[in-house]
Amino acid sequence: MTAEQQKQQVALKALEYIKEGMVVGLGTGSTAKFFIEGLGTKVAEGFQIKTICTSEESENLAKQLNIPLTDFTEVEVIDITIDGADEVDKQFNLIKGGGGALLREKIIASSSKQEIIIVDEKKVVEKLGKFHLPVEIIPYVWQTTQRKIEALQGITMIRQRDGGIFVTDNGNYILDCNFGSIDNPQLLERNLNMIPGVVENGLFVNIATTVIVGSDEGARELEKQ
Ligand code: 5RP
Repeated sequence: MTAEQQKQQVALKALEYIKEGMVVGLGTGSTAKFFIEGLGTKVAEGFQIKTICTSEESENLAKQLNIPLTDFTEVEVIDITIDGADEVDKQFNLIKGGGGALLREKIIASSSKQEIIIVDEKKVVEKLGKFHLPVEIIPYVWQTTQRKIEALQGITMIRQRDGGIFVTDNGNYILDCNFGSIDNPQLLERNLNMIPGVVENGLFVNIATTVIVGSDEGARELEKQ
């Protein structure tokens, strides 16, 4: 099975967790897109849910598929969020933000009763860090913020798109940071967020409640260690 097929497989599996009447958080990225498309089919068949999106990209897709949207003026808590990830370890720590949506993804995840992560099997790792950690920073004097992040022993690259600096849905920039193998995700997450100019980083610690992994034998829940 290719990674793409596994993404479809886990997205289908995640649909089984959605019950009528739920408020559902919609993740961002190619795996989450398969899930949103599947949800769109269910909605077209009369399935009742409301959703909150983690990016403009996901919101546009939800609107195209006539999936009902809501927001935090209407609801306080999200029942379940389905999102992808760039890396997952066996303690369910994640690196997210490959698609640049980490800030809204973390806000939505932290307001969700269940955060279900759907990934193909290549994303499950012993230790996080091969995938460069996205850190969202404000544009104002961003090189100063970059230097402070590099003082934490990271090598950083400002994310580019179409020949210019990539701008997030929140009007910020992303630094993709190589910290090597990350021994203590919790500490790094905290240290990064202490730096003025850092808005949020892509380390998600103690947030995922379930991880569904694709494989040739079928989608399965990862056992937490
Ligand atoms: C976006 C994300 C995505 O969930 C992550 O990058 C995985 O993307 P994909 O499903 O396309 O591999 O965190 O900010």
